[in-house]
Amino acid sequence: MLTQRPKGTNDLLPGQAEKWHYIENIIRQVCREYGYEEIRTPIFEHTELFQRGVGETTDIVEKEMYTFLDKGERSVTLRPEGTAPVCRAYVENKLYAGPQPVKLYYVGPMFRYERPQAGRFRQFNQFGIEVFGTTNPALDAEVITMAMDFYERLGLRNLEVHLNSVGCSKCRPVHKAKLQEFLRPKLEKFCPNCQGRFERNPLRMLDCKNPGCQELSVGAPTTTQCLCEECAEHFEQVKGYLDKVGVRYRVDERLVRGLDYYTKTAFEIMVEEIGAQSAICGGGRYDGLIEEIGGPVTPGIGFALGMERIFSALAVQGIEIPVETKADVYLAALGEPAVRETFRLQAQLRKLHLKVEMDYLARGLKAQLKTADRLKAKYTVIIGEDELARGAATVRQMDSGDQQEVKLIDLIDYLVVN
Ligand code: HAM
Repeated sequence: MLTQRPKGTNDLLPGQAEKWHYIENIIRQVCREYGYEEIRTPIFEHTELFQRGVGETTDIVEKEMYTFLDKGERSVTLRPEGTAPVCRAYVENKLYAGPQPVKLYYVGPMFRYERPQAGRFRQFNQFGIEVFGTTNPALDAEVITMAMDFYERLGLRNLEVHLNSVGCSKCRPVHKAKLQEFLRPKLEKFCPNCQGRFERNPLRMLDCKNPGCQELSVGAPTTTQCLCEECAEHFEQVKGYLDKVGVRYRVDERLVRGLDYYTKTAFEIMVEEIGAQSAICGGGRYDGLIEEIGGPVTPGIGFALGMERIFSALAVQGIEIPVETKADVYLAALGEPAVRETFRLQAQLRKLHLKVEMDYLARGLKAQLKTADRLKAKYTVIIGEDELARGAATVRQMDSGDQQEVKLIDLIDYLVVN
């Protein structure tokens, strides 16, 4: 146990971490261009925030939360998602009092006690965005476009946007009644979990993973069939805006998100090639959530995408992440006086912001050159006793193998210019 990480978690090892930096840099660039600012909220929140925000009858709240009592007997929960915390921060810090819309993004770990499998972890990372203060359907389209734009910059292909509208507080009760009418005659055949949800939240029954329940719900009335005039018009407009910018989507009336706060637009982006956990992004509008957690009536919309699933998708599509060279210059020294000289050179070169490494294991020349190769150094500077006596160093250009003797007093200039 002492040398084993908890199930469903990952170590990010050297070599992998650089790849995350690459993706995070693209995230920050896209967010800057689309006008989003970063927000960082706590890793844990009061449990009630998720119960109220995400919904009591969701899998997340019923089964998957890391909830514990702290030493003050307060129930706290490691955040299973980012939307409720960002809404809480928006209200608590009165961001509604400033200019709207407020466009925020976050990147960080989330925690869900799920059954781990490929692409599904207990600690995973999300990049998410949330926008507050406008009901404009153009923004729904912008949010989806932004996610697609981000994936495109990574070179990902074969992405499918699944789009649905889940209605609002006006049309939802109509749908709920119709759905209950449809499900009631077969209720006994559903799993106990579904039966428990029949009264409070029958929509969740359509999202049950049990194949028997899935079959029973085939042909159930969809939310889009019950939309009120306003929601239907909103949905049409969202589709129209997506068409305008050439973002392709598939209307998926069976799309039920795993969180209860959605109103109107709900969407997921899929990459079938990565297997069962094919949803790489999920999001939608949540016009009632801010009010639900005690803030002023404020519309909101956003998405979150799984960082780990990006890597799965990149891997199956054979896309390499460009990794920077680890060293510009490798300093190989032989003998104590030469080591002292290279130590000085190393400090000087670092002042000029070059990536420099030297040997700290007193190894022979062959081993040092091997390290220079592994680090993909552009140059290796070799200083032995003979070179030192002549006040010079041998500079080897690693890709061509060309060697040249350079005077020590000219060495810094030589490396910086080249
Ligand atoms: P979600 O669909 O629960 O939505 O999660 C979003 C994405 O996070 C998923 O599409 C998936 O890529 C990734 N993800 C979820 N669970 C796991 C897991 N156990 N392991 C690995 N990756 C996972 C939300 O979280 C909403 N807060 C999204 C949102 C933001 N809606 C509006 N604003």
